Amino acid sequence: MLSFLFSEEEDNLFITKFEYGAMLYKNPRGIGCNKCHESGNKTIQLAKYQKLNKKNNKLENISIVVPPINIVTFKKFKKKLTADNRDSLIMPTYFLTQDELKSIYFYIKNINTK
Ligand code: HEC
Repeated sequence: MLSFLFSEEEDNLFITKFEYGAMLYKNPRGIGCNKCHESGNKTIQLAKYQKLNKKNNKLENISIVVPPINIVTFKKFKKKLTADNRDSLIMPTYFLTQDELKSIYFYIKNINTK
């Protein structure tokens, strides 16, 4: 397990866990979360484009928005990150362990208060 990373000492525990989460957030064996979610605390518009609606032959405005992730519950976070995201237009599917998910969640929860 990863317990060797987490020292007994409170301070080190926080820093190590935080840094481990930061590392995973940027490099989760896939596209870094930061590439889309930035620091995870706000709604980000990734793209805006127009698409032709073939039914009425009119142009529709499409906007791709990335939600903030520091306000979701761990339950929801875990659900999204263990889901098969092939149905999402944007968000990739990840294969992270429970420990990794906890560390990323911990990081996101704490990054904006540091
Ligand atoms: C390529 C862009 C992209 C990357 C990379 C990405 N996401 Fe997302 N994420 C999205 C988009 C867009 C959504 C909105 C729902 C959807 O389209 O699936 C989303 C939704 C979420 C949600 C659900 C939020 C809610 O309120 O329902 C969570 C949690 C999340 N992402 C966490 C992460 C984490 C953690 C990582 C890295 C392991 C990550 N995302 C990587 C684009 C991305």
